Amino acid sequence: MQKCVLLGVSSSIAVYKAVQLTSDLLKKGYDVEVTMTENATKFVAPLTFSTLTKHNTIYQTFDEHTEYDIHHISLAKKVDVFIVAPATANVISKLANGIADDFLTTTFLAFKGPKIIAPAMNTAMYDNPIIQDNIAKLKEYGCMIVEPEVGLLACKDEGRGKLAAIDTLIAAIEAALIEPKTLKGKKVVVTAGPTIEKIDPVRFISNHSSGKMGYAIAKAAFELGAEVTLVSGPTSLKHPYGVKTISVSSANEMLEAMKKVYPDSDYVIMAAAVADYRIEDPSDIKIKKSGDDMSLHLVRNPDILAYLGENKKRQKLCGFAMETNDVIENARVKFLHKNCDMLVVNDLNEKGAGFKVDTNIVSIITADNIEKMPLMSKDELAMAILRKLGEL
Ligand code: PMT
Repeated sequence: MQKCVLLGVSSSIAVYKAVQLTSDLLKKGYDVEVTMTENATKFVAPLTFSTLTKHNTIYQTFDEHTEYDIHHISLAKKVDVFIVAPATANVISKLANGIADDFLTTTFLAFKGPKIIAPAMNTAMYDNPIIQDNIAKLKEYGCMIVEPEVGLLACKDEGRGKLAAIDTLIAAIEAALIEPKTLKGKKVVVTAGPTIEKIDPVRFISNHSSGKMGYAIAKAAFELGAEVTLVSGPTSLKHPYGVKTISVSSANEMLEAMKKVYPDSDYVIMAAAVADYRIEDPSDIKIKKSGDDMSLHLVRNPDILAYLGENKKRQKLCGFAMETNDVIENARVKFLHKNCDMLVVNDLNEKGAGFKVDTNIVSIITADNIEKMPLMSKDELAMAILRKLGEL
């Protein structure tokens, strides 16, 4: 069913970004309703939003032209999520203290669903303890706060206060809309991407992992309500919204990071493609050409998943396997040897599976079952993996 987003727009110069946000949400198939504070209409005309959304943009509580119902109540009942973006210091303070003196703030009080606040203001105002207290209060009341970014502000000051990027706002909306929050109160750790093993300051050994699979799992875990830590090898992907990301390079660094976060975790998913070998003695200076051939001496890397399996207490452990032959047989051996609760195997020979692509085709192995999954997007598969893991 089509979801409806209510966008509350208050009077910051970042109002123009709310227009782009509206347009992007509509392109994604959402129904969008907009309410503005009266001051915000001085930056952008309500007509801009109305033309995009095909709904009346309301900014006056006692507008005689709106339909004859109690509009702030009917709108609060219609929409699935309420995001205030940009949220000024004034609006934040009113919302935190139950002041309802215009249409936006009244509807906010009447709305019972997920609420998101995206502040945008000058750094000094944002850092002011009054505003910080009000933001903390809104968090306590269950609002999701999308932190502003650091950058050059309209007033030419440099600092925190820029409205979060539009894709971050959309990620927050999408996370808020996912129900039920089956992983609420759980700590999930995900590994993603390749590891790189240094040969010299110029060269390294690695593999084709883009990180897409692991990042999709981290995003999905956050959407399901978990506190998520992503331990990521080098990738070109943007860190997922709401997820604590620890960047590592080599297998040894990934192991050290995992040792720190593992004891306190509930679910661990090892989607990273960890190098099995590293150079025994990497050079600190660039290795020069000499002769027609050269050899590198490789030594075994620690098996991180096997270490986690050996030290498992309450955690549910999900490994991945990348296979090219005897797929299920090889994966079953890894499942048993590494003491996994679940193992997701992808076959590099299948079109649409494995490295770099946005889709995957996998089989999911548990102690008493092997389930072949159809081709699906990595986002869909991430949800399926987490739901299954949660059921174990
Ligand atoms: O990142 P993408 O481009 O989206 O690609 C996704 C993926 C193909 C990388 C992912 O779906 C995947 O299959 N990840 C695991 C790849 C892999 O290393 O498989 P493996 O069969 O070599 O390892 C088995 C398991 O042991 C894995 O969970 C791996 O993280 C872990 N392992 C491996 C070696 C090692 N030294 N330590 C480990 O922990």
